[in-house]
Amino acid sequence: EKRISIAIDGPAAAGKSTVAKIIAENLSYIYVDTGAMYRALTYQAQQQGVKLESEEALLRLLNETEIELKPSENGQIVSVNGKEVTNEIRSAEVTNSVSIVAKHRSVREEMVVRQQKLAQNGGVVMDGRDIGTHVLPHAEVKIFLLASVEERAQRRHEENVRKGFPSNLEQHKIDIARRDKIDSEREVAPLKKADDAIEIDTTALSIEGVVEKILSIIHERV
Ligand code: C5P
Repeated sequence: EKRISIAIDGPAAAGKSTVAKIIAENLSYIYVDTGAMYRALTYQAQQQGVKLESEEALLRLLNETEIELKPSENGQIVSVNGKEVTNEIRSAEVTNSVSIVAKHRSVREEMVVRQQKLAQNGGVVMDGRDIGTHVLPHAEVKIFLLASVEERAQRRHEENVRKGFPSNLEQHKIDIARRDKIDSEREVAPLKKADDAIEIDTTALSIEGVVEKILSIIHERV
């Protein structure tokens, strides 16, 4: 059976990584969380005091930063230069700055080279903002996941409460909307549905419902 490429894009906290992981597992494909790569660079920059506005300094840092994504039982382990940063890259400090880092053209170009290398043999589910438009423009299946800001903030909030983390629903709404705005309005590879992507509004759907929809789209095409 042919091992295809599946691109899943959409705004912040739309459930992309949750469904992408399940689909990859279901098909025995590799899962690549491209947001984790931008987050890892952001974390590294903050650790080293590199200015997030400086494209040149960030590119230099990226060129000496190995980012590794490894599958694990409860998701994915992310390491930079051999040090695990799986939880660190989900902090509010990283989340609220990553869109600044992701604006820079040369940083994106290097990330895209790395992402295309990970996908070169097919059999991949990749999620992000520009996968269907730029990273894997020839992906056999392209999905664009949407949900209202209220619904996405609510899901984030419930997830935090479940984990016992402090959480503020109104703040999530503000942060999510702000990140979407920066990601959609940037000059280089903005968040945008590819013309040939299939849009799924997940606002009223369960995770299982979304997974089922995407799997049926995949099975139609393979
Ligand atoms: O998917 P996640 O929310 O972890 O992505 C974090 C940030 O990384 C996004 O808000 C966006 O600024 C950036 N990103 C991107 N292109 C991608 C994936 C993520 O610009 N393909």
